[in-house]
Amino acid sequence: MVAGLPRSVSPISHAHLRLLDQRLLPESEVYLDCTQVEQVISAIKQLSVRGAPAIGLAAAFGLLLEIDQYPDSKAEIATRLGEVGAKLVASRPTAVNLAWAVEAMLAFASTDAAGLGAAGWRDRLFAKATELYDADRAACRKIGAAGAALVSTHPRVLTHCNAGALAVSEFGTALAPIYHAHNQGVEVSVWVDETRPLLQGSRLTAFELMAHQVPCRLITDSMAAHVMASGLVDMVLVGADRVAANGDTANKIGTLGVAVLANHYGLPVYVACPWSTIDLNTASGSDIEIELRNPDEVRTFQGQPSAPTAVPVYNPAFDVTPGHLISGFITERGLIAGPFDETLKVAASHG
Ligand code: MRU
Repeated sequence: MVAGLPRSVSPISHAHLRLLDQRLLPESEVYLDCTQVEQVISAIKQLSVRGAPAIGLAAAFGLLLEIDQYPDSKAEIATRLGEVGAKLVASRPTAVNLAWAVEAMLAFASTDAAGLGAAGWRDRLFAKATELYDADRAACRKIGAAGAALVSTHPRVLTHCNAGALAVSEFGTALAPIYHAHNQGVEVSVWVDETRPLLQGSRLTAFELMAHQVPCRLITDSMAAHVMASGLVDMVLVGADRVAANGDTANKIGTLGVAVLANHYGLPVYVACPWSTIDLNTASGSDIEIELRNPDEVRTFQGQPSAPTAVPVYNPAFDVTPGHLISGFITERGLIAGPFDETLKVAASHG
């Protein structure tokens, strides 16, 4: 955990999941105590819990919240879990970690464990969700170590959205190499894109970096070109919601623009993500479903109207950066350079 930072996903028991309400950060630290699956689904849809790995973990634990109410038969439990899992997966379409975590849980639930009653299943599945949580923690630490050398040679980093501790179990993905390098005494400094419309950069990334005492400066999204053109950036480092087999990467809306700019100015673009974000079943970025969100997110700024109330709006939550604009992926399996259609397959075989 990053010192002084609240934890986004806290499993209390199989029937109680505590989620940090990230919508209220940085002003208030408020928790949602979920005992019903619908509460978790609503928290995911409203971005109370957000960030690809964190929503996957919330879903893995959320799947079990009502298991005590299911009939005491393995077949019945599996059917109910399948139904609930499908609803959780449908709550946000772009981040593959959500489907990945639910599939891992359901595959585990379908393994043979004859003689186990509902309580036995419940405990086994809670242990499985905890295993996914611990694996994410370990992956984030490894990503931090794998990317730290890059940060020490490229210490002025620009990041977009929030791919820090708040978006995962702990430590982060894109922020992990920054934390790791900072802990080693590297003089890293971070340009934090505000990340319109929901301000994950200004509300969450700036908050995290300041809690960790990493020097940072907040800019609006439209200032990124100017800071790059002024020679103030060494590297772009972002997270991901889904990486296709050819390296095309869906991440928060605005990432594509940042990557195009970085390529124009000759700056490397690295994507840090756990292996659970890499989806070799998706051939390319054009196969990734992009979530469209409520127009009012664009018509307002932090709840206050900032546009005519009836103005038509287009509000895609993510965009896709083509693999050819990406210098490499920082994962728990190490640093992966292109050609991604070959190297990602090779890394998959080392899992
Ligand atoms: O809509 P959000 O806030 O869930 O979007 C989050 C991002 O795009 C992150 O960059 C991504 O999930 C990686 S988080 C480690």
